[in-house]
Amino acid sequence: MSDSASLRDITDFAQALALEAGELIRRERDNNTLRTDYKQQTELVTHADLMADEFITGAIRKRFPEHRILSEESMPDLSQAEELETPLWIVDPIDGTVNYAYGHPQVAVSIAYAEKGRVQAGVVHAPFPGETFRATKGEGATLNGKPIKHSGATVPRDSLFATGFPYTKDNLEPLVKRLDAMIHNCRDLRRIGSAALDICWVACGRLDIYYENVSPWDFAAARLIALEAGATAGHFGDVPAGYPADLYGRDILISAPAIWEPVRQILRSASGYD
Ligand code: IPD
Ligand code: CA
Ligand code: CA
Ligand code: CA
Repeated sequence: MSDSASLRDITDFAQALALEAGELIRRERDNNTLRTDYKQQTELVTHADLMADEFITGAIRKRFPEHRILSEESMPDLSQAEELETPLWIVDPIDGTVNYAYGHPQVAVSIAYAEKGRVQAGVVHAPFPGETFRATKGEGATLNGKPIKHSGATVPRDSLFATGFPYTKDNLEPLVKRLDAMIHNCRDLRRIGSAALDICWVACGRLDIYYENVSPWDFAAARLIALEAGATAGHFGDVPAGYPADLYGRDILISAPAIWEPVRQILRSASGYD
């Protein structure tokens, strides 16, 4: 690790940033008219996404000037994830921007820290319900300081799953096929609107399964939290050779351990991978 900070110090720092950014996000929604814009014509972004991004990335740069940052709103250069030598921060200043703009509570700040492509620390903070999920590698996962664990689900049929859909609607057919297969094989679906919280909810047993195609900032912190809560995390598709799996966002599947393989088979077959 560069700098003399321990991984626990790093997690504390990430948590402090996530809490402060969460306050900013709450304040902006409570006190102001949200200013919204579109990225690539379809994806909503608010002024609070940009303010939170500036605050978090500025604070990381100040404390760890030699580290790299991959952040959705200011530094979304995915090649950062491929360069493994320098420590990397992966930031989603607001995960759940559409929820945020509509006044829904499912909104999170997500901050992860990786060394050599392996995520070592992760914090996901939901400022509206006041819930902070946190994990340091090898030390378990907590929600507001209390240890959490996956649901222990044993069969897909009795499992509740969450997923999401991309902003661009170019190629929805494979997603609809997967959805069809999952709805037929599982108890029910929730589309909550924040990938980071979906995964943290698998970590604490409020959901049994999550799958989606997302970007590293959507899942990097939450994936570690789920793993540290004993859930199984992997991909139902292939990870390109040499790409760090901790940061590869296509075909992610995270679930209670006993159902991971059966669900992987359902998703692979619906995707035409087998
Ligand atoms: C989105 C949310 C959503 C997921 C999308 C993400 P954003 O992130 O996590 O649940 O379905 O794929 O892009 O844009 O709100 O940060
Ligand atoms: Ca996101
Ligand atoms: Ca975001
Ligand atoms: Ca976004």
